[in-house]
Amino acid sequence: MKVLSVVGARPQFVKLAPVAEALAGRCEHVIVHTGQHYDARLSDVFFADLKIPAPDVHLGIGSASHGHQTGAMLAGIEDVLLAQRPDWVLVYGDTNSTLAATVAAVKLHQKVAHLEAGLRSFNRRMPEEHNRVLTDHAADLCLAPTEVAMGHLRDEGLAARSTMVGDVMTDVCLRVAQAVQDEPPTTAGVDPEQGYYLATIHRAENTDDPQRLHRVVESLAALDHPVLLLAHPRLVATAERQGLPLAQGSVVVAEPQPYPELIRLALHSRGVVTDSGGLQKEAFLLRVPCTTLRTETEWTETVDLGWNVLDGDLVDVAAAAARPEPPATDAAPYGDGHAAQRVAAVLLGETGSTSES
Ligand code: UD1
Repeated sequence: MKVLSVVGARPQFVKLAPVAEALAGRCEHVIVHTGQHYDARLSDVFFADLKIPAPDVHLGIGSASHGHQTGAMLAGIEDVLLAQRPDWVLVYGDTNSTLAATVAAVKLHQKVAHLEAGLRSFNRRMPEEHNRVLTDHAADLCLAPTEVAMGHLRDEGLAARSTMVGDVMTDVCLRVAQAVQDEPPTTAGVDPEQGYYLATIHRAENTDDPQRLHRVVESLAALDHPVLLLAHPRLVATAERQGLPLAQGSVVVAEPQPYPELIRLALHSRGVVTDSGGLQKEAFLLRVPCTTLRTETEWTETVDLGWNVLDGDLVDVAAAAARPEPPATDAAPYGDGHAAQRVAAVLLGETGSTSES
């Protein structure tokens, strides 16, 4: 049995880590890196820290517009799939790398399994929403992280090829959190004693419109404690183009951090302010209050359980972030930390490959 994973962007490396570990020694596992994220701090450090085997193939395709990027990946991945002929092409999440790999595979009649299937924001202006909808509908197997995601797949007529496996990001997050929980963060510019918020902003809907980005940065500067802003290259580039300084008020700007440091920073913060899907969920898993600068979220459980507040209209981010901590909960909508084992079992045919549960 040969499984071929296609990854390209930072959150996909995190998802790949437990899957690669679960597949190790049980089948041939080929890893293809599209190159969508190429900066070492968005890519190499994840492979090193999370002990992911080095990619077997690196296509070196990154930047450019959506169409150029996705098209170049589609062509590159097709050549790899023709040479490799895997039993399963495993795609992750909702990036352009996900969509390119899916289209390349289905056109060659190679079977596609979509990890993190069924997530929906219902916001058709998000490139990721199209990537995930198209991928789910093309895939042979939809591996859903949550019951809510299973419900969306059912609603779209995909129940017969969907199975609930849990969320593989939970596997990584809980493991890393346990390993680093007693270590203070090492990033310069934050003082856990004084209290700080951890912020990340990278989505096109927050960065690309100058007025919107201006308001986002103003909102961060108005928080009642210092803010450590881990600045994605897209944010840095757009802010520079717009002549907008990011380090306003008590906002401290730092580079994106390796995964263990990100978890340390979140654990020691008084709250997270973000537009990242992964970080919303990690904040919940670590029981750190999160404020999300989007009008909707795919991870609705975090909101329903009170640990995440959406302020996409930037009405009062400072008040949202400073709100009292919600009631403690032991709810585990994102699984038990063993999702990757289920993914491996399904792909290797060790369990029923479809379920309507
Ligand atoms: C991509 C995903 C998004 C995911 C995010 C995680 C899509 C449509 N979006 O967004 O879903 O949440 O990754 O971070 O696939 N850049 C660099 N160095 C890099 C990578 C990117 O400088 O290593 C800059 C380039 O200017 C590039 C821009 O960031 O054009 C955007 O990168 P891209 O990968 O296209 O999208 P992300 O915003 O990272």
